[in-house]
Amino acid sequence: MKILVIGSGGREHAIVRKLKESPLVEALYCAPGNGGISRDAECLPVNAMDKEGMLALAKEKQVDLVFVAPDDPLAAGMVDFIEAAGIPCFGPNAAAAQIEASKVFSKNLMKKYRIPTAGYEVFADPAAALEYIRAQGKYPAVIKADGLALGKGVIIAQNEEEAKAALHSIMEDKIFGESGAHVVVEEFLTGPEVSVLAFTDGKTLKPMVSSMDHKRAYDGDKGPNTGGMGTISPNPFYTDEVAQQCMETIFLPTVQAMSAEGRPFKGCLYFGLMLTPEGPKVIEYNSRFGDPETQVVLPRLKTDFAQIVQAVAQERLAEVDIQWDERACACVVMASGGYPGSYPKGIEIHGLDANGQAEGVTVYHAGTKLEDGKFLTNGGRVLGVTALGDTLEQALSRAYAGVEAISFEGAMYRKDIGRTHRK
Ligand code: AMP
Ligand code: GLY
Repeated sequence: MKILVIGSGGREHAIVRKLKESPLVEALYCAPGNGGISRDAECLPVNAMDKEGMLALAKEKQVDLVFVAPDDPLAAGMVDFIEAAGIPCFGPNAAAAQIEASKVFSKNLMKKYRIPTAGYEVFADPAAALEYIRAQGKYPAVIKADGLALGKGVIIAQNEEEAKAALHSIMEDKIFGESGAHVVVEEFLTGPEVSVLAFTDGKTLKPMVSSMDHKRAYDGDKGPNTGGMGTISPNPFYTDEVAQQCMETIFLPTVQAMSAEGRPFKGCLYFGLMLTPEGPKVIEYNSRFGDPETQVVLPRLKTDFAQIVQAVAQERLAEVDIQWDERACACVVMASGGYPGSYPKGIEIHGLDANGQAEGVTVYHAGTKLEDGKFLTNGGRVLGVTALGDTLEQALSRAYAGVEAISFEGAMYRKDIGRTHRK
């Protein structure tokens, strides 16, 4: 198979590296890719949102499959466009990608099909939303912009003042653009969070191993929300019993609901769950692999990834037996100084070999470029330093040893990945 992967982050690097292990894969392309990905696949400078450009590239390289990894092109109909030209894709079409692209859609879906989630109301008018929050009189109140907002569209308001300010910035100042035309106001839930990615072809669903993300920028879960500062797999809270319960009450009902709505979901469905005292509930769905969850989940996959991807595209997932490595995996993100706010770019990274790797770890590149044989920073999240281990402790100590060996000016990383649950 010849495969084109769309995207340019650490998730895409992990996808490319896993596909590269497959004997079925004869050529790998990535657009636009990054410095590290260019050591594993041929990177081509086509923007991830450019449908015509991607289709032209897919035809020129005669690819057998296009793997659409990020949320924006999925929501914008990249899969619809490429499949209309007869090239199979891994990823949902625009109608199915609504499960992530519209919180109003996903909340209404869960209500209709009785899938456990936080209670909520939808508002198009900020005054009505505030009135509702006031009448409820319960804080914190959770306010979510309807559309895609780079993972920053959720505001947890501790009092009426904060709720008012949040509604104003989302709905009137439109800090997330048209994503803020509607908001969801929902009940505040408590409990450990778990990420579960699952393969589905619209009929069959096969969950991958669980993981835990660390979304806040600083140690002790302090500071602003980010795209994710590190991950571990498995998630220590996700017991076999919880997994069984999620399968019955959340995973299968979601796949069936999407098909019943005429929007069968093909690709990777991401369940962001909270294990509340009343049982597991959905915090959010994503229509794609998580970043940096992918970086700890795919290294544990023992079955040929290309074979699974092809089976999903051909709606034959039921035929594939998927095996996982028992070992634990940890990923520590090294970010640019200032992230998730503004940060400099173009800083030289030290401690990487010619392939962008370091001894004892796998280094997934998120925001890097390769210039004159040197790896330079080129984004907020720069590297995901990842290791497997017989225990979580061993995986973490290996990943942190890798981090110690790599440096660039202003580099920031959390020192407590995999430890926050032991408070
Ligand atoms: P999301 O982008 O929907 O994953 O939300 C970002 C983060 O906000 C989640 O990872 C949770 O930590 C938190 N969050 C979202 N919804 C709720 C809720 N209903 N109750 C408590 N925390 C929430
Ligand atoms: N790490 C969270 C996400 O990919 O949305």
